Amino acid sequence: MEDIRETVQKVVRQVILEMLSAEPDALDQWSTSEKGRRPLVAANWKMNLLSADARRYATEIEVPEDNGVEIVICPPHILLPVLRRALGEETKIRLGAQDMHHEESGAHTGEHSGAMISDAGARYVIVGHSERRAAGEGDEEVRQKVSAALATGLRPVLCVGELLPERQRGATLQILRNQLTLALGGLAAPAPDPDDLVVAYEPVWAIGTGKVATAKQAGEALAFIRDRAAEIFSHAWAERVRLLYGGSVNADNAEELFGQPDVDGFLVGGASLDPAAMGAIVTAVHRARAAVESAGA
Ligand code: PGA
Repeated sequence: MEDIRETVQKVVRQVILEMLSAEPDALDQWSTSEKGRRPLVAANWKMNLLSADARRYATEIEVPEDNGVEIVICPPHILLPVLRRALGEETKIRLGAQDMHHEESGAHTGEHSGAMISDAGARYVIVGHSERRAAGEGDEEVRQKVSAALATGLRPVLCVGELLPERQRGATLQILRNQLTLALGGLAAPAPDPDDLVVAYEPVWAIGTGKVATAKQAGEALAFIRDRAAEIFSHAWAERVRLLYGGSVNADNAEELFGQPDVDGFLVGGASLDPAAMGAIVTAVHRARAAVESAGA
């Protein structure tokens, strides 16, 4: 009896997931930038804001009319349904979660599965954020989460980045190589659709410190990440995957950072808590994108 119930639950879950992933998604019909990839700006609220703030945020954030920059907001899990309702059905803003558990269900008190997160309205999920790694999340857990997210129809935003002492001793690229290989190496066959995965380079020393990486530092790290993705998957795959920079991004530094060929957008923490500041970063990316395009024309 137990077995039958489990099988039925599994089949129902699978059917729901297939229905979700089969839905034609107008937000994916984007125009790409000169870089050939649609810019993405994701907000990571971390453990901040309450339901009233989320509702206010939804009314205050200004989204440009055209579909040029994809905007994703990652509130605490409990606010996903609140924000979804407040943004309404016609919204162009997408939702993401800040973490997930890699198993489908079970005795994991306080955790959320990928299916629960999708059900609450998320399309993306941040995986391997340095604040979680610092709290003990290991590379194997990160790998399991990336793979479980993809299996659930969520798009993982995989975070990688070095600590300050690692940069100081010249180990940045080695750290990035290890983190990428451990998180993505096992996905090689068959490779996921490059639109379904995002990698964020977040140097730990730049997170929440106001010490943003220089455009050169961000550009070099992301170029390395794209090369490494080409080794793991293929050159064509790596040309399509979107790479973000994160760490003390604001409206004043976004434009210069976006000028780097491998920066496709941002993962924004502190500044994203204010809808006006988040809107200003999106506008800066719009502007920078237009500048890159006219330079290429
Ligand atoms: P920050 O955080 O923008 O506040 O530096 C970025 C992040 O942790 O994703």
